Amino acid sequence: MSTDKKLHKNESIKTESNFLRGNLEAEIDDPLTGGISDDSIQLIKFHGSYLQDDRDVRSERRKKKLEKAFSFMLRLRIPGGKVTAKQWLDLDKIADTYANGTLRITTRQTFQFHGIIKSVMKPTMQAINETLLDTIAACGDVNRNVMCYANPHASEVHAEVEKLAKDISEHLLPKTGAWHEIWLEDELVADSKQEEEPIYGKTYLPRKFKTVIAVPPSNDVDIFAHDLGFIAIVDEKTEKITGYNVTVGGGMGMTHGREDTYPRTADILGFCKPNQAVEVAEKVVLVQKEFGNRSDRAQARLKYTIEHNGGIEWFRSEVQKLLKFKLGEEKPYEFTTMGDEYGWVKGTDGKHHLTLYIQSGRVKDTGKYKLKTALQEIAKIHDGTFIMTANQNLIIAEISDENKPAIEKLVNEYQLFKSLHHTGLRLNSISCVALPTCGLALAESERYLPDLITELEEVMKANSLRDDAITIRMTGCPNGCGRPYLGEIGFVGKGPNSYNVYLGAAFNGTRLNKLYRESVPGDNIVPLLKPIITDYANNRLKGEHFGDFTIRAGYVNAADQGPGFHEDIKYKSYLN
Ligand code: HEM
Ligand code: SF4
Repeated sequence: MSTDKKLHKNESIKTESNFLRGNLEAEIDDPLTGGISDDSIQLIKFHGSYLQDDRDVRSERRKKKLEKAFSFMLRLRIPGGKVTAKQWLDLDKIADTYANGTLRITTRQTFQFHGIIKSVMKPTMQAINETLLDTIAACGDVNRNVMCYANPHASEVHAEVEKLAKDISEHLLPKTGAWHEIWLEDELVADSKQEEEPIYGKTYLPRKFKTVIAVPPSNDVDIFAHDLGFIAIVDEKTEKITGYNVTVGGGMGMTHGREDTYPRTADILGFCKPNQAVEVAEKVVLVQKEFGNRSDRAQARLKYTIEHNGGIEWFRSEVQKLLKFKLGEEKPYEFTTMGDEYGWVKGTDGKHHLTLYIQSGRVKDTGKYKLKTALQEIAKIHDGTFIMTANQNLIIAEISDENKPAIEKLVNEYQLFKSLHHTGLRLNSISCVALPTCGLALAESERYLPDLITELEEVMKANSLRDDAITIRMTGCPNGCGRPYLGEIGFVGKGPNSYNVYLGAAFNGTRLNKLYRESVPGDNIVPLLKPIITDYANNRLKGEHFGDFTIRAGYVNAADQGPGFHEDIKYKSYLN
């Protein structure tokens, strides 16, 4: 272990939980409160859930001396983000029956349900289990949902990376029977004291761990933002994957006011063959398990383990010690974009795929735009699958020639094509959930970014930039769920209606942005950005992306890999 300091209290919660059971089941069954104890709040994360409360009604309830309006967020584990049409319909029904009637496509290629009250948590889990999905390890200090390149048009390569995502997910899944016992009321494991977690042990990981697989030139999964990544190297002639460049130590979260916390882009660890990837994943996890900081959770992600112990050379040698083969040298690759390719494409297997833009990933009916109903109707006749993207979008995938006209008819009837004609700014936007459900939100995000974009669109249009793609990302706090530090324009909630504004990230996700102005009131964001956007329209070089321009034009300095994130800031206060 890298530190002699007192262990964080979560470490004993994990150790004493009897492999993630704790007192969770009794507390879920307790009808006297809608909540659960602090210890169980930590444990339930490993089961894919967060306890939340409706923050819109917090003060009203406090005045009435009522307990908070508790409910649970539930996140599914769907490695590769693909579900069948039948599963879509089942999940849609679960959203209506047990949750708040919406499905949220997340920035990590899965669904979240919001607003599930405690008394229906078990039926909800059982319904999810009946769809042949689960929520195991969707949150918590373990390897979480494994993402992979979403676009299925290069069908064989896509199938291979999807399989790898599933294999890694299975291999790194906690082996405890706790989830099945608690939620499905399966019989207790005969003697759970005999149970083992062969990879994790009793204390699991020091912190969350996130794994992704990318297929260049698309960096749709935002590989450099993740703890562990695999960049598929595809042979141009055979179109087969010859192996993967392995990336380690990316991460987004930081804490306002703590300069020893920062986002960081991943390093390249080396190259491995396709059949070595699962083993590499396991060994990377084992090194993090041994050396990660278990005293200070704000310093516990793999990015800090690497930074604090001697950098990537040290980490490579530790991983190498555990591997039976030698990692190869990094192979050349190039990423050009993080965005999704919208519209129709035909796969190499002859199937059709339609990528739709979903605002903030929220699947719901809004006024005349009946997105949820439309997708329900499509699912009823769809003979293929649905794939979620890391940009909170949705691909209606694997449509046969015969079925395409019927799907197209529904797409037209419900005007889903409208989403494909949005501006470049909107099509490249991401926002985290934030208020009212997220207990950590300092400012609005999902409920605010769409309107802010509407205002910024006017500025873009006035400068003939309507269709120019600029990545724009907002989160309600610095934790980084919407990966704001990799947006060419990033907004991070600082307080109510107050945002730190970041500029200068690379369009392909390889360079972080830098703080441009601190604590900007929402109303002042458009006046702040208008002159920069105008300058960009007038003075950009051919093909120059907005993030690169803001550095060349001197608005911000270029960011390094992360440790210097808080240095070289040109301006800080909004007022100067
Ligand atoms: C200290 C760091 C973090 C904490 C404590 C945290 C906590 C949370 C919480 C409480 C939610 C639930 C919000 C809701 O649904 O109401 C959430 C959502 C989410 N988080 Fe995080 N998070 C952290 C960092 C990150 C990072 C760095 C990523 C991605 C790289 C991420 C990915 C997500 C995703 C995908 C969601 C689902 C909703 C969405 O797509 O916006 N989180 N997180
Ligand atoms: S970034 Fe912050 S506000 Fe947004 S969902 Fe994550 S924890 Fe909540």
